[in-house]
Amino acid sequence: MLEELNQANEYIVSKIVEKDQLILNMEEYARAHNVPIVTKEVAKYLEFMADMNKSKNILEIGTAIGYSGIITARVAKKYEGNLTTIEIDETRYIEAKENFEKAGLDNVHQILGDGLEEIKKLEYGYDFIFIDAAKGKYKEFFEDSYKLLSEGGLIFIDNIMFRGYLYKEYPKRFKTIVRKLDEFIDYLYENYPSFTLLPFGDGIGLLRKESSGVK
Ligand SMILES: C[S@@+](CC[C@H](N)C(=O)[O-])C[C@H]1O[C@@H](n2cnc3c(N)ncnc32)[C@H](O)[C@@H]1O
Repeated sequence: MLEELNQANEYIVSKIVEKDQLILNMEEYARAHNVPIVTKEVAKYLEFMADMNKSKNILEIGTAIGYSGIITARVAKKYEGNLTTIEIDETRYIEAKENFEKAGLDNVHQILGDGLEEIKKLEYGYDFIFIDAAKGKYKEFFEDSYKLLSEGGLIFIDNIMFRGYLYKEYPKRFKTIVRKLDEFIDYLYENYPSFTLLPFGDGIGLLRKESSGVK
């Protein structure tokens, strides 16, 4: 079944036709320089969910070179909104800045710093939050993100199944991170009834904040 899922993912990726030269260049750059960016099928799904949610005020933790940032900022622009994106690495922050400029986007607020600290300085009212940074900190990122999320808003978490290591043998050095992510998934299922886990890419966690005030 899992092997078939991999094949299905590969099939989906082979069918996606990307015409945007900037996006293609960024994919090539990420491959050549080992920059981890969302996979193509995850990028499509991210765009679909952000758009379906008519997201105006988007927050991203983990900018890297701005690949997913360009995709989500374009959605926000469609609804006259903005993307705020946080990156801890200065070189990547600068590379992302150049890419946002090349994309002609004027609705991106980039923050250079540790997401764990920077997120605490932001105000409530994001309707879409994309968590894609240090996996060992996902629970902390999530707790702070949830406080900032508007009622009806979505949280989209990438790589939550960490290269499949949550359900298959993994190198010993990943023991702590695997345990933390596994406990995080249990915590989300137990406490957030809307939480759902999808086997795309390295696993996506998706959650909606109910409008009624309940989780
Ligand atoms: C998987 S990459 C993000 C990919 C990007 N979202 C995309 O798909 O185009 C994760 C990024 O998070 C950054 N990062 C790691 N820990 C962080 C932290 N505590 N705060 C902010 N950024 C962090 C890394 O430097 C890296 O660039």
